Amino acid sequence: MNHLDEKLTFKRGLTLKNRIVIAPMTTKMSFFDGVVTNDEIDYYALRSGEAGAFITAAANVHEGGKGWDGELGVYDDRFIPGLSKLAAAIKKNGTKAILQIFHGGRMTDSKVLQGVQPVAPSAIPAERPNAETPRALEEAEIYDILEGFKKATERAIKAGFDGVEIHGANTYLIQQFFSPHSNRRTDDWGGSLEKRFKFINELVDGVTSVVDRSGVKDFIVGYRFSPEEYEEPGIRLSDTLYLVDRLADKPLDYLHMSSNDYKKVSVSEEFKEKTILTYIKERVGDRVPLIVAGDIRTRKDVETVLETTDLVAVGRAILIDPHWTQKILDDKESLIRTELFHYDREELRISNGVWGFLQMMMPERLK
Ligand SMILES: Cc1cc2nc3c(=O)[nH]c(=O)nc-3n(C[C@H](O)[C@H](O)[C@H](O)COP(=O)(O)O)c2cc1C
Repeated sequence: MNHLDEKLTFKRGLTLKNRIVIAPMTTKMSFFDGVVTNDEIDYYALRSGEAGAFITAAANVHEGGKGWDGELGVYDDRFIPGLSKLAAAIKKNGTKAILQIFHGGRMTDSKVLQGVQPVAPSAIPAERPNAETPRALEEAEIYDILEGFKKATERAIKAGFDGVEIHGANTYLIQQFFSPHSNRRTDDWGGSLEKRFKFINELVDGVTSVVDRSGVKDFIVGYRFSPEEYEEPGIRLSDTLYLVDRLADKPLDYLHMSSNDYKKVSVSEEFKEKTILTYIKERVGDRVPLIVAGDIRTRKDVETVLETTDLVAVGRAILIDPHWTQKILDDKESLIRTELFHYDREELRISNGVWGFLQMMMPERLK
């Protein structure tokens, strides 16, 4: 079993001081064009210094991949100065800074894109109210997006981050290529499971080779995935076991399972005996460190999860109590604040947009 205050060294040499990672969480605080704001830097600085690593909010690698207003941008060199300040703010007191890189695909709309139609593997809208029908990407555009991920990685290195996390989870473009719901292509980029993996395969190879060719020391690459979809057809756990099996053989430093509950059991009849996390761990083995997020709130949760994984990722608990990590490490759990009304929104540096989202997601914890 892994201990929460034990160090962990990744394949590419980076060492984390403990096993707690702050989960990627959108702040909705960047300027309209994706440039980092001072408020955003304050938000990160308030929460940094205790956890082993802090994964930033998703940053879009391509102008057409912007998912929402207030999102970080990393699709141009002009973002580097702001991102450098952000990395420096996170890295105080030894917390490592990981930039999450992504493209929203069909999970955006033409309002956010200022009149431009969203793009996706195929012209199939998401199953959500008012979803717009995206335009299917041309092959040249696919290569352009893959290039965007590589350039974003170069920028993360220049800005002083300790790594990037490829956001292959939560229904965004990377997952859309793997999903039989959003990917109905009949060319090399869609169809069989193998072909639906092609985009991810090229993406991971591209990003890892940028890092390894750059000569940067101790810079890591992680990959985040969501294990299941509810759409019909959709990604099932059997697909994800194939995915993690392929990814575990790649030069990645970690795999990160995105979930809202680490104890969740699969929707598939053939995988009901254990939790999804257990099946994933069994398939990955010790080939690559595994992280999971999903309703980890107590020291007991952390210890239970670390029996299976190498690291835990914690989101909402650290939004509500910026010093959650230190209280867990010091075994002072009774001091943890679990209800947002202990604070006001400005003290927590939480934007209006995220505050509203939290009220929707967890009203019982808000006043
Ligand atoms: C306000 C908010 C913003 C989020 N933004 C992102 C994001 O940008 N990228 C991502 O991969 N996950 C995002 N998530 C999901 C979290 O990383 C995490 O998986 C989820 O909140 C479950 O963990 P928790 O129960 O510890 O909060 C977000 C969650 C919240 C609450």
